[in-house]
Amino acid sequence: MASFVTLNNGAKIPIVGLGTWKSTPGQVEEAVKAAILAGYRHIDGAYVYENEKEVGAAVHAMIDQGVVKREDIFIVSKLWCTFHERHLVRGACEKTLHDLNLPYLDLYLIHLPVGFKPGDNMFPLDAEGQAIPDNSHFLETWEEMEKLVDAGLVKTIGISNFNRSQIEAILNKPGLKYKPANNQIECHPYLTQVKLIDFCHSKGIAVTAYSPLGSPDRPWAKPGDPSLLEDPRIKAIAAKHKKTPAQVLIRFHIERNVVVIPKSANPGRIRENFQVFDFKLSKEEVNTILSFNRNWRTCPFEWATKHRDYPLNAEY
Ligand code: A2P
Repeated sequence: MASFVTLNNGAKIPIVGLGTWKSTPGQVEEAVKAAILAGYRHIDGAYVYENEKEVGAAVHAMIDQGVVKREDIFIVSKLWCTFHERHLVRGACEKTLHDLNLPYLDLYLIHLPVGFKPGDNMFPLDAEGQAIPDNSHFLETWEEMEKLVDAGLVKTIGISNFNRSQIEAILNKPGLKYKPANNQIECHPYLTQVKLIDFCHSKGIAVTAYSPLGSPDRPWAKPGDPSLLEDPRIKAIAAKHKKTPAQVLIRFHIERNVVVIPKSANPGRIRENFQVFDFKLSKEEVNTILSFNRNWRTCPFEWATKHRDYPLNAEY
């Protein structure tokens, strides 16, 4: 049985979702259909992935074929950094809704705390390869996100890649109307995020783990980088349970009550990644996997390291 995490607005987010970062427009439609047919009820996307039209087409195909109803499926998208200024937030959300061909999103996240110079270029960089900042602050962006809930465009709102002090800044904002429901962060056995997850959970903020398999298809992967799927210690735990390394890497989050969004564009692997509700990892095994932490990131956002709101310099 698939399970859920209950958000602070009462909505239930399915604990395993399909990641769509790096799925090309040509792949993602089949991937989303395969996922829904396999039982996934949560699709994670973002404007910056440049595939939302195809994600929407697949969702609609499944609705039209009677496989699923809109209200049974949890759709997530994210506000990109070039839309943080107050006057751009609603239009960005409407563009995503238009591309998905949906009247509302279940969850809309601020993709990163850093705002970039608005314009068609999603990565406006200076001569040093650093993102050119905008004139926003994420607290203002948050106020505009709150308005999307009141306008009925999104059921709930959250954040992604925010650190503790940035989350506290939102929670302490005078006049806060809606607390973030979710913080989506990189998390896997080499970046276990114990402190940030404990902090989020203590504040009623659900956590979603991205890059749970270590994103071996990240464009900047280098030979010799660590590989979770090849880690003999993960392989040994998988063999003990007659499961695959990917299934262990996914189940690790379920044991911590963390939502997890493995990406695959391959129907067989999409099905494999959902076969994670018929076994459990013991507390001991979870603790062993936690000991593999090495604070290694697949997504260090090197183009934003000098931005005033770069989130990854803090301990957590
Ligand atoms: P593919 O899309 O060809 O299946 P992450 O979710 O951490 O970003 O990792 C995604 C990467 O992991 C992709 O390269 C994806 O390849 C691969 N992947 C997804 N599921 C599995 C699996 N069950 N076994 C091995 N590799 C997988």
